[in-house]
Amino acid sequence: MRPVCRFPGAKVTRMCGIIGYVGPRAAQEVVVSGLRRMEYRGYDSAGVAVVVDGVIEYRKKAGKITNLDAEIVANPMPEATIGIGHTRWATHGGPTDYNAHPHVSDNGRIALIHNGIIENFAGLRAELQAGGVSFRSETDSEVAAQLLGREVAQGTDLADALRAVVNRLKGAFTLVAMDAQEPERLVAARRNSPLVVGVGEGENFVASDVAAFIEFTRNAIELGQDQLVDVTPTSITVTDFAGNPAESHPFEVTWDLSAAEKSGYDWFMRKEIYEQPQAVADTLLGRFNEDGSLKLDELHIPEAELRSIDKIIIVACGTAYYAGMVAKYAIEHWTRIACEVEIASEFRYRDPIITRTTLVVTLSQSGETADTLMAIRHAREQHAKVIAICNTNGATIPRESDAVIYTHAGPEIGVASTKGFLTQVAACYLLGLYLAQVREAKYGDEIAAIMAELASTPPLIQRVLDGLEPIKQLAAKYINQQSVLFLGRHVGYPVALEGALKLKEIAYLHAEGFPAGELKHGPIALVDEGIPVFVVVPPQGRDQLHDKVISNIQEVRARGAFTIVLAEEDDEEVTPYADVIFRLPKVSTLMQPLVATVPLQMFACELASLKGYDVDQPRNLAKSVTVE
Ligand code: M6R
Repeated sequence: MRPVCRFPGAKVTRMCGIIGYVGPRAAQEVVVSGLRRMEYRGYDSAGVAVVVDGVIEYRKKAGKITNLDAEIVANPMPEATIGIGHTRWATHGGPTDYNAHPHVSDNGRIALIHNGIIENFAGLRAELQAGGVSFRSETDSEVAAQLLGREVAQGTDLADALRAVVNRLKGAFTLVAMDAQEPERLVAARRNSPLVVGVGEGENFVASDVAAFIEFTRNAIELGQDQLVDVTPTSITVTDFAGNPAESHPFEVTWDLSAAEKSGYDWFMRKEIYEQPQAVADTLLGRFNEDGSLKLDELHIPEAELRSIDKIIIVACGTAYYAGMVAKYAIEHWTRIACEVEIASEFRYRDPIITRTTLVVTLSQSGETADTLMAIRHAREQHAKVIAICNTNGATIPRESDAVIYTHAGPEIGVASTKGFLTQVAACYLLGLYLAQVREAKYGDEIAAIMAELASTPPLIQRVLDGLEPIKQLAAKYINQQSVLFLGRHVGYPVALEGALKLKEIAYLHAEGFPAGELKHGPIALVDEGIPVFVVVPPQGRDQLHDKVISNIQEVRARGAFTIVLAEEDDEEVTPYADVIFRLPKVSTLMQPLVATVPLQMFACELASLKGYDVDQPRNLAKSVTVE
């Protein structure tokens, strides 16, 4: 059978979930529960394999894990102490039972799971077929299982065999495999795809994500690029692809299982919206001294180098990109260094001007976004310094950067990013103020005053959350709405873009964000009778754009728009032009995104929920996009 690519030419893949277990517990149960904890990554089939009495037993099903559960109930699996499991998002080969992982080699020796894309799979498949190997799937992944099966059948040690296989593969991969003849040993390897080891007592785990094993252990080891790990219940050996001992990085997971569960909320997204005051507070925690000056201990870049920076480029995707747009206003204002913001997938293809004195700042919640990672590699090849702002400890992006500022938001499970956005803005502000401090672009008391305002935002975000009922009621009115517009200026513009993105992602409706001043140059033609237009109004009095935005509201209202206005308390100037008004706490312009984004997130969450959609796992999307 010819390999079929279901999405011809597609280079984008989703982030499969991988888990392996070896130890005294019932392996199949440990593995399936780990898969459930990784459901948020997006998948369309799932499978599990165990080894019992020298034989690999596996079950795999298209669709959700409940289908796999039903299959296991119908065909129970024997008790085992070693197992691997996988949730797959189809790339090469459709989402069918037979394309689901694990893949078992033709000779029955190897069961293997894979995350990523093996770019040279077609040639390898032809080679194996010519040698008499029969394939049972259309996937690129199966070639790795068959190659490994062939190697071990020749008497090669399992880890050496995996080493031989990975050295023949091109592309991105995390591979985990077990051999029917070695029921106490897992081997795994990674290139351009995540893999962490969970360290237990008399048991060990490998997984794409600590969420998969957090129930059993908080001790973990992050694997580096091109590393291989050999795991038994009592040993973990890390080597490079040549077989040399490699340095591994142990860390402790600081969040617990309940943080990864819904705690009574209907959706992870809703829970994460409500976690934002804490997430922002945690991101700011420990980052300033009593005198109000900043300390970013983790930023191991000499101050002399920070002083020599003459350009900043912020690189990110999606919501993180909009956080970067907000940050640009603050960073330029505070540091007087020119700051550009760039979509990561565009960055390296336009030959950007990067020198040794350019600082590249990347924003990524997951730390695994391939477009952002490739941008980092490009920037470092050009000798730029790279600072990652990231939420995921041990992820690839922080590891490949010169320094990292972690946003301590806790796990973000909902595909639509919420606390990721607010904490990225907060962390960018910390960085901007720190640069201003190091370069003496602002006086100490000015920095202390801005820091004090930043530190005062968590209770204000809480106040916004406490008053969201009207926004929820408004959502009920728009169940059949086709199109929604969002307007803002200055930092209100990226907030408008973010409000629109949330609606597109989870409520599947056409939504656009515009700079309000640009309306008259074209987009105002979209305005017709009754169309809802959200407008973010800058703070009154203290902001020169306030009056201009009020004029913009009048322009759309005169053309029939239904105006939903987000304006600060006491702003009565705007009242006559608002069909609905949502009050925001009084903050300065630069702090406004931290409060104004929240009602827009909730509007999208509520509307999608009322429409009966899967808010946490919207169609066609996954939490991390790990291939370009
Ligand atoms: O993990 P990252 O922050 O790098 O992800 C970047 C984007 O893929 C992400 O923000 C995406 O746009 C979200 N689904 C938005 O809600």
